Parts: sequence; structure tokens; C-alpha cells
Amino acid sequence: MTDKVIVLGGGIVGLSCAFEAAGRGYKVTVVETGKPGGQASGAAAGMLAPYSENTEQPDAFFRLCLDSLRRYPQWLEEIEEASGRRIERIPSGSLNIVYHEADLSPLRTRLLWQNRFGAEAEIVEGSRLRELEPLLSPNVEAALYCPRESHVYAPDLVSALEDACRSRGIHIADHCGAVTDVRLTSAPGVTVSTEARGDIAGDRLVVCTGAWTGALGRWFGLHFPVHPIRGQICAYELPVGVVRHMVFSPQAYWTSKGNGTLVCGASEDVAGFDTAVTEKGIGRLVRSGPKAFPFLADKPLIHRWAGLRPATRDGWPLLGQLAEAPHVVIAAGHYRNGILLSPATGASVADLLDGKADRTELAPFSPGRFTLALAGGLPV
Ligand code: GLY
Repeated sequence: MTDKVIVLGGGIVGLSCAFEAAGRGYKVTVVETGKPGGQASGAAAGMLAPYSENTEQPDAFFRLCLDSLRRYPQWLEEIEEASGRRIERIPSGSLNIVYHEADLSPLRTRLLWQNRFGAEAEIVEGSRLRELEPLLSPNVEAALYCPRESHVYAPDLVSALEDACRSRGIHIADHCGAVTDVRLTSAPGVTVSTEARGDIAGDRLVVCTGAWTGALGRWFGLHFPVHPIRGQICAYELPVGVVRHMVFSPQAYWTSKGNGTLVCGASEDVAGFDTAVTEKGIGRLVRSGPKAFPFLADKPLIHRWAGLRPATRDGWPLLGQLAEAPHVVIAAGHYRNGILLSPATGASVADLLDGKADRTELAPFSPGRFTLALAGGLPV
């Protein structure tokens, strides 16, 4: 008999897990409090930038990010085929800019180790830099150019993925309201109680509740230190091609979308679950604009918004089964890399459901790691 899988959370991570699980033959229901993609996924800048987001060392997290980047083309093809929609992926490459020669030294160190992992990066300056990105300010001294990074338009990707899930026969139970109870049985089985849609029962549970995952630990007697970090973000109207690359400065990043907007992000605020934008948060981004791109000095914003990144205490996601209840898989806490990590997360979760996951590779992301550290193995 086919196992019924309940995926809790309809953001990009939940939908990716559902899509892959359904592709492997599971009968899947996605339980979503509100609208699929209505939180961090829909608010994201959509950068597929493992090199720019991981600047320290080639650790397990960096390798997971690279693995996910490698999976992206095939994954997008599958979503396009299942949804009948085209998904924009812009292979822009990225420029990490610096304003002072002294700041080049960390970029050179990065280049050395990241090129061993396929970055094909180089330091660019002078006329070569201006050829690549003509409207950069003369104040920009140099940049690390990484041609392998790209970006997607996250709201469209999530919406196509939702369509793709439906076409694979996944039931998306949206607008369920709050989850009021999660009961595990030894059968094994699971029942999720929701405010608006009552009880939903299945055999396995995949928890993909993003920034809200911290509160779910109580159903399992575990401690999941996931907390929301608000990212405020804004956009200018700008024809495609004026800014050619994803440009990262020490204060902000800019990425030009196919819909004629230049997206500028993002703050990192501790503000609980408040998704309001503030003058302070957006003002900082706006002020950083003309330093990199002088033409932004008198450009009005056309849009501003915010999303809640799910941050874990060590910055790495929770990805694995619960030792005490192996029919529960956690896939949460992707922090700044939810869009990038979705294909690898979906594949790992489906491998875990199939009982063929590489446990050594996933060990660093064990969802039990904080509980063990805090209480010598006892739930806290
Ligand atoms: N990945 C970009 C951000 O989190 O702002």
C-alpha cells in the first residue's frame, strides 16, 4: 500500500519535498496555514549564489548548496514539464564589489578555495570591471566576478511549483489556519489537527515550517532553535540589462529581474514575527544604492516588502529524521538559502522517506543536534 505523506508547510521547501515525494510514488498532502509561498519564499530575491553566500570555507553546508545548484537545471525542467509553465532563470553571474584595495584580500582568499569547487571566479578591476558592469560607480575599486551564479524570480517559481505539485496529484490543503496538535502513533502514523480544516491523517510527516519551526518542537519533545530574521527588501523600476549582474556590496545586493525591476536587499532584523517594513531598514538599503550605482540617487522605489528567514542557532538547516520517530522528517531552517537549497532538500527528504539517504552526508544537519548538545540526549 502507498504511504501517505503529510508535508507541513507550503513554502518552496515544503512544495519541493512534496513534488519529489509524489514523483517517487507517495500520496502527498501539503498542509499550509495560509497561502502556498505566502511567506519567505514569495518574498525572496531568488539568488542561486552558493559562492557569494558562503565565504568562509568549503564545509558541509557549502557542499549542500553546491549540490543543490547542480540540480537546478534538471529540477526546473521537471517543474516546467509538470506545470506547463516557463520559469525564468537568469545566468547573470555575480560581482562582489569592494570600495577599498585593502578589502580585496579576503576576496583573493575566497577565490583560491572556491575555484577548487568550480566557481571559475576572478578578480576584476579597471576597464574589465566597467565592461562587465558599465554603470558601477568609479568608487568601486574591484570585484570578485563569479560567472556561475544565477537567479530566479522566486514568486513565479513558487507558483509554478505549486501548479506542478497539483499536476502530480498532490493535495494542497491551504488556508488551514494554525496547527493545534500533532499526534504521532507507533503504527507508524501521524495526525495533524488544524484550526480550519480539522484532522489530517497520514503515515509519515515532513516538517517544512520555516521560521515557525521553533514552536513545533513541543509536539516532539525536542528543541528546534529556529527563529525569524526579517529581511526587508525593495525594488526600483529598471529595464532588463541596465544592471547586468547580481551585485553584492558590503551593505546590500542588487539583482535585475525580467519583469523590469531592480530588487535591492536585504536587512537582517530581529523583530519576532513582524513582517512590517521600516524606514530604518529600507533607508539603509536606499542610502547604499548611489555608492555602488550613482544613477540610483534620484530613483524612486516602486515596491518594498519583507519576509522572515528561518535562522538556526548554527546557521545550518535541520534536515533529517527524528531519531525517536523516524517517520518524521524535518526540513527547515534554510535561512538565506531556501530557494537555492530546495532541489537538494526535496531529494534528500525523498531519499529519507525511501530509506536510502546518505546518512553521513546528512549527519551535520541532524535535527537532534541542539537537543543533544544542550541536555546530553534528553529532550529539553
Ligand atoms: N539570500 C538573500 C537573503 O537572504 O537576503
